[in-house]
Amino acid sequence: TGTKYGCGGGGCGACTVMVSRYDPIQETVLHWSVTACLQPICSLHGAAVVTVEGIGSTKTKLHPVQERIAKAHGSQCGFCTPGMVMSMYTLLRNNPQPTTEDIRETLGGNLCRCTGYRPIIDGFKTFCNVRTVNSSNGKCCMENSNSHNNESDISGELFSMDNVLPLDPTQDLIFPPELLKKAERLCFQGEKVRWISPADLKDLIKLKAEYSNAPLLVGNTTIGWFQEEVHPSIHPSKLRTIKWRNNGVTVGAGCSLSVLKDVLLQGIEELGPEKSRVYQALVQTLQCLASKQIRNMATIGGNILSANPKYDLSSILAAAECTLHISLLIPSILFLTTNSLLQYKYNMNFSFHSEKLIANPCALQWEFVSAFRQAQRREFSFSIVNSGMRVTFRHDSNVVENLDIFYGGVGPTLVKARHTCKELMGRKWDEKLLVVGTQLLEEEIYVPPTAPGGQEEYRKALVLSFFFKFYMQVTLELQQKVGMNDLPLEYLSALKPFKNEVPQANHSFQLVPETQSSNDPVGRPNVHQAALQQATGEAVYYDDIPSVKGELFVSMVTSTRAHAKIISIDASMALAMSGVVTFISAKDVPGQNRRLWFNNPEELFAEEEVICVGQIIGAIVAETREQAKRAAEQVDITYEDIQPVFFTIEEAIEHQSFFDPKRKLERGNLEEGFEKADHILEGELYMGGQEHFYMETQGLIAIPKGEAGELELYVASQHAAYTQEVVGITLGIDSNKITCHVKRLGGGFGGKVMKIASLSAIAATAAYKTGRAVRCVLEREDDMLITSGRSPFLGKYKVGYLNDGTILAADITYYSNGGCTLDESSFLLDFIKKKSYFIPNLRGHGLVCKTYLPSYTAFRGFGGPQGLTIIESVLHEVAARCGLPAHQVRDINMYKDEKCYTHHKQLFSPHDMVRCWNECLEKSDYTHRCLSIKQFNAHNHWKKRGISIVPLKFGIGFSKGFYNQGAALVNIYKDGSVLISHGGTEMGQGINTKAIQIASRILKVPMSSIHIKETCTGNVPNAAPSAASFGTDAVGMAVKDGCEKLMRRLEPLIKKHPQFTWQQLVSKTYCQKISLSATGFFMGPHTSVDWEKSDGNAYYYFTFGACCSEVEIDCLTGDHKNIRTDIVMDVGRSINPALDVGQVEGGFVQGIGLYTIEELQFSPEGVLLTRGPSRYKIPALCDIPPQLNVHLLRNADNPHAIYSSKGIGEPPVFFGCTLFFAIKEAIAAARRERGLSESFPFSSPATAEKIRMACEDCFTRMNPPDRKVKTKPWAINV
Ligand SMILES: Cc1cc2nc3c(=O)[nH]c(=O)nc-3n(C[C@H](O)[C@H](O)[C@H](O)COP(=O)(O)OP(=O)(O)OC[C@H]3O[C@@H](n4cnc5c(N)ncnc54)[C@H](O)[C@@H]3O)c2cc1C
Ligand code: FES
Ligand code: FES
Repeated sequence: TGTKYGCGGGGCGACTVMVSRYDPIQETVLHWSVTACLQPICSLHGAAVVTVEGIGSTKTKLHPVQERIAKAHGSQCGFCTPGMVMSMYTLLRNNPQPTTEDIRETLGGNLCRCTGYRPIIDGFKTFCNVRTVNSSNGKCCMENSNSHNNESDISGELFSMDNVLPLDPTQDLIFPPELLKKAERLCFQGEKVRWISPADLKDLIKLKAEYSNAPLLVGNTTIGWFQEEVHPSIHPSKLRTIKWRNNGVTVGAGCSLSVLKDVLLQGIEELGPEKSRVYQALVQTLQCLASKQIRNMATIGGNILSANPKYDLSSILAAAECTLHISLLIPSILFLTTNSLLQYKYNMNFSFHSEKLIANPCALQWEFVSAFRQAQRREFSFSIVNSGMRVTFRHDSNVVENLDIFYGGVGPTLVKARHTCKELMGRKWDEKLLVVGTQLLEEEIYVPPTAPGGQEEYRKALVLSFFFKFYMQVTLELQQKVGMNDLPLEYLSALKPFKNEVPQANHSFQLVPETQSSNDPVGRPNVHQAALQQATGEAVYYDDIPSVKGELFVSMVTSTRAHAKIISIDASMALAMSGVVTFISAKDVPGQNRRLWFNNPEELFAEEEVICVGQIIGAIVAETREQAKRAAEQVDITYEDIQPVFFTIEEAIEHQSFFDPKRKLERGNLEEGFEKADHILEGELYMGGQEHFYMETQGLIAIPKGEAGELELYVASQHAAYTQEVVGITLGIDSNKITCHVKRLGGGFGGKVMKIASLSAIAATAAYKTGRAVRCVLEREDDMLITSGRSPFLGKYKVGYLNDGTILAADITYYSNGGCTLDESSFLLDFIKKKSYFIPNLRGHGLVCKTYLPSYTAFRGFGGPQGLTIIESVLHEVAARCGLPAHQVRDINMYKDEKCYTHHKQLFSPHDMVRCWNECLEKSDYTHRCLSIKQFNAHNHWKKRGISIVPLKFGIGFSKGFYNQGAALVNIYKDGSVLISHGGTEMGQGINTKAIQIASRILKVPMSSIHIKETCTGNVPNAAPSAASFGTDAVGMAVKDGCEKLMRRLEPLIKKHPQFTWQQLVSKTYCQKISLSATGFFMGPHTSVDWEKSDGNAYYYFTFGACCSEVEIDCLTGDHKNIRTDIVMDVGRSINPALDVGQVEGGFVQGIGLYTIEELQFSPEGVLLTRGPSRYKIPALCDIPPQLNVHLLRNADNPHAIYSSKGIGEPPVFFGCTLFFAIKEAIAAARRERGLSESFPFSSPATAEKIRMACEDCFTRMNPPDRKVKTKPWAINV
C-alpha cells in the first residue's frame, strides 16, 4: 500500500522509491531515487528496490524520516507522503548531513497538493547540521519553530522535535550480496513485448543488428510505455564512463543526468570560472531540468536522441560545439557533427556511443557560452523555448570571430540561427551589433502561428530576449577585458536568474488558557491522527484495497466530439480482445440512466447525443486494468456533428445560452450613485479555471454481495450519502442495501462531491451486470478530462467612483462557464455575497453559461476566489486611475462599522476583518516595503517588484440551509476504548483529528483511546458533503452532542464513584444495562437568501483574514518569483492551530497555482489539451515564497461554531490573488518606465507568457503586422 500512483508519467513523484545498484566502475553501491511508474520491472534485474514499507513501520520501528514528516505536520491527505519520505530517505542514504539546498533539490520533483510544502521542509530540515538564518528576523529557522513570542500567550511552536529518533545510518538496510553480480544477457518474454538486456556494448551492437527496429531503452523517461514488439535495454557500464581529457570531457551516452551534473560541478571547481563556462551553462540547465528522480534515470544519450525540441540539452551542447560519437550497427565509431543535431528525428536507428564535451583551453579566455530556458514553472517543467549561445572573439578585442546560436522549442527540430550568426561575424560586439542581430533573428527565427503549443508571439519574444540577455552577459565580461562602454547599472539584475530557495516561516497562534487541563487537547497543535500511517505507507486508500476474488476493471469510453448525435456504437473489436468481459452503456442501466441533483439531471451514459468531449458513452469491463484500457480505445463510435457548438463565455453570451436560475442582487440606487460619481469606469476581467489535481485520482471498488441486491462501495467520495443515493437510483435498489465506505481521500478540494457519484453508478452497473466486483481507477488524463474543475469566470463591470477612490456605485455581471450541465454551478454564484467592501449602490447579476465543455463543478472556495477577484480588480483599476496606492482604495471601501449589513442584508461585524487587515499591514512591514520596492524598481530596468495586500470576508456554511447539519455515532466499548463514526470525510483537512480532540475533551479520555475507522453510510446516514468549510463545524458539534449524551448517562455513576477509573466506570455502566452508544446530531442554522428581495442570511458566519504578497518579475522572460507572503487569519479559537495553519498555507498555495501558473488549455474543437502533470503545472516547491508567514488572529471569538472556532478550508485560496495583483503592479512599474499606460488588459492566471507580453518593449513590438496571419489558434480562452 505504500508506493502511490498519481500520474504514471514521472510527473508527480508519488511513486518514488529507492533503487540501489552495485557500480562496477566505482566499486560501490549507489542509491537513486526514481519514479517507480517509469521503471520497467525487467530493468530492475540486479537492483535492490526499497519502498516506504521497507524503511520503517508503526508496528516495528519508524524511520526518522517518517517520524519527522509526520510530527512536523507535513502529511495532510498523505497521498504524496510516501514519495516524499523515499526522496528524503535516499538523500540521507547518500548524505546523512544534507544542506537545505540538498533537500530543496531532492524534493523538487515531489508534488503535494495539500500542504504548501513548508511543513515538509521544516520536518526534514531537522536533519541538517547547518543552521539556516531567516532573513526576516535573523533567527535560526529551528529557533523560529520552537520559540515563544513576546506576548506570553502567543506561540510559534507548531511542533517539537524533542524526543525524536536520531538518524542512525548503521541501521540502514544492507545491499543484498547476491545482487553483486556481473552483467549477463537476459531475455524476458511478455505477452506483447520481448525485453533483452545485453551483457555489454558488443552484445548490444550484435542485438541491434538482429532487431534493427527495436528502440533502445535506457532511462525510459521518454519512451515511458511499450508499443513495440521487442525492446532491448542497455546498461553496459561502458556507456556510462566519463573521462576527463586535456580538451574536455567524454561522457558515455548511458550516463545519467544526475551523474553528469555532479561530474561537471567537480570539473567547474577544478577548472575555475573562466575555463568552465560550458560546464557552468550545462549545470545551470541541468539544475532545473525535470526532477531529481528523472535526472537519476534519464540519460544524456536519451535526451539528445529523443530529438524533442523541448528538451534542453541539445541547444547548449550544439552551441558548445560538442562532438557526438555514433556507433552504427557495426562496431565502428562515426562522428556526428553538431549540425546533424538539427536534422534529428525521433528514433533514429543507431546506437549512440558517447558524448564529448569540448572546451578548448586555448580559446577559453575569449570564448563565452550561455544557456537559457523559460518554462511554465521554473523547475520540473519542459521549456517553452531553450537556447544555447556561444561567441568567440579575436584575441584582445571585441570583434566577433565565431558565433553560434541555437534554439529549441521554436520548430520541429533544434534550430540554428545560421544566417544571423554568419552576418554578425567580424562585427564589433556593441549596440549596433545588438540592433542588427535582433533584427536578423527576428527575420530568421520564424515561429508560425500554427506551431504546436501555440504561444508564437511569446516564443518569438523569448528568442530575442535571450539574445539580449546573452549580449548583456558578454558585454559585462568584455568590459573588464577590452574596456567597452559600461552596461547601465540598472540592467545588471536582468542577468541573474531567479534563485529557488527553501521556504522559511514565522507562525503565531494563541496558546490555550493556563487554566485548561493539560489532558484537554482542544486548541493544541496535535499531529494529524493518521500521519504516522501515512508516512509509513500503511494508510489505506481505496485503490490500496487488495483485489477481491473475481474482481474486474472498468475503463470509460468517452466522446471525442463536442456536440454530436451518436449514430452507432460498435464494441465488437473491443469485445474480441483478450480479457474483455463486457461492454456497458445506457441500455445496461437497470434503473435510471441519470444523476439527479436539485432537479438537474445529468446522463450517466450519453444515449443519443453527446454534449462535450470527454462525456462518458460506455465502458469496457475486463479482467485487468491494462486489458480494459486497451479495449476501451477500440470501441468505435460514429457521430454526426450537430450545431451549434461553442465553448467560450463570450460565445455563450452571443447565443444567450444560460442555465437557470439567473441570480440578481441589488441594493441602493444605482443611477443616483453613478450620477454622484466623479468618474465612471467600465471594464472586464477574465479568470481561467483550475483542475483539482488531487494526488489520488477518482475511483472506487463496487462489490456485489450476492444477497438481496446488497452492494458495498469503497469509494473516494466527499459525499458518501449522495453516492449511495445515485447508485440506488441507477440500479433501482433501495439505499438501505447500498453501503458506501470512505476510509480517507488522497485530496478532494470539492472535486469528489458530485462526479464520483456518476463513476460509482457506472461501476455499480458493471458489477450488477457481471455479478462480480468491479474496480474503477481513473488515469490522470481521464480524470482531468471527465471530471473537470473550477469554472472560468468573466466579470463585466461599470463602476462610479470619487476622486479619493470611494466606490459609489457598481453594476457587475458575473459570467461563469458552467460547461454542458449545471452540476453545482448555480451555487457558485453565491459569491456575489462575499465581498469585503461596502458599496452603497450595487447591482450584481450572476449567469452560468451553458457551453459544450465538460461540466464544471465545485472547487475549494466555490466561486469565491473568482467572484472576489473581480471586485479586487475593480479596486485595483480605480486606484491606478486615481493615482492612489491600491491598499488605500481598498481601505477606504472596506466594511468598517461595528455593525454592518451585507448586500443581502445579513448583519455582521467586520471588527476582526479590520484587525486582520491592520495586523497584516504591520506584520508585513507594508509601508516600509513599498518604499524599498519603489527604490528597487528605480534601480532595475528589466526586473520589477510589486506588492499587494487584500482583506477577506468569507461566508461559511451551505447556502442550501438544510445541508447545515451534522451527525455522529459514538460507541464506547467495554474496555473503555471509543469508536466514533461521523458523516464527514477525512481528506487531509484533519476532520478526524479535530473530532477526536473534541471527544477527548468531553469524555476526558486520552486521544489515543479514541478511534475513527471510516465514514460509512451504514453507520451515519444522510450526511451532508464535507464541503463549504463546514465539515468540522457540523461534525464537531455532532460529536460533541453524542459525547455529551453519553456523559449524561455516566454522570450518576461518576458522582457515586468518583474514584473510578474510566475503564471501571464503563464496565459498571455496561453492567447496569445503560447504553454505551449514542448518536449525536447538529441542527445548524437555516441559511437562505430571497433573491427577489436581495434579503436573507446567506451564511452562518464569516471567516476573516488579510494577506500581503511581494513578487519580482523578469520583464524579459516573464518569469516571476514569489518573494514573501504574510497572512493574518481569523479562525476564531482554533481547535488545532497546526491543522489550521496547514489549511491556510495549503489553500494559499493552491491559490498560487490558480492565479499564476495553472492554465487549462482547450483546442478550438473543445478538447482539453492540458491533461496530466507534463502540461498542467501545479505549484511545486520552487513556487513557494521563501518567506511564508501565517499568523492566527489572537482573541478572536465566534459564538456560532464549535468551541468558538471557525471554518478555514476554503477561504485562503483567494489569497493567491495577492500574487496576481503584485505581478500587475510590477508590470505597471515596467510600463510606466517605458512610457506606457498603467492600465492594461491582464487576465488570470498571470503566466510567464502574459507577464512577458504585458511588459511591452522593443522586442515584443518587433513582430511585424504582416506576419500576424489569422489562423486557427492553438488554444482558446473558454
Ligand atoms: C517528468 C519528466 C520531465 C522531464 N523534463 C525535462 C526537461 O525539463 N528538460 C529536458 O530536456 N528533458 C526533460 N525530460 C526528458 C528527459 O530528459 C529525457 O526523457 C531523457 O533524457 C531521456 O533519456 P532516457 O535514458 O530516459 O531515454 P529513453 O526513454 O530510454 O530513450 C529515449 C529515446 O532515445 C533513444 N536512445 C536512448 N539512449 C540511446 C543510445 N545510447 N543510443 C541510441 N538511442 C538511444 C531510445 O531508443 C529512445 O528512442 C523529462 C522527462 C520526464 C519524464
Ligand atoms: S505516479 Fe509516478 S511520478 Fe506520478
Ligand atoms: S498531503 Fe501532499 S498531496 Fe495531500
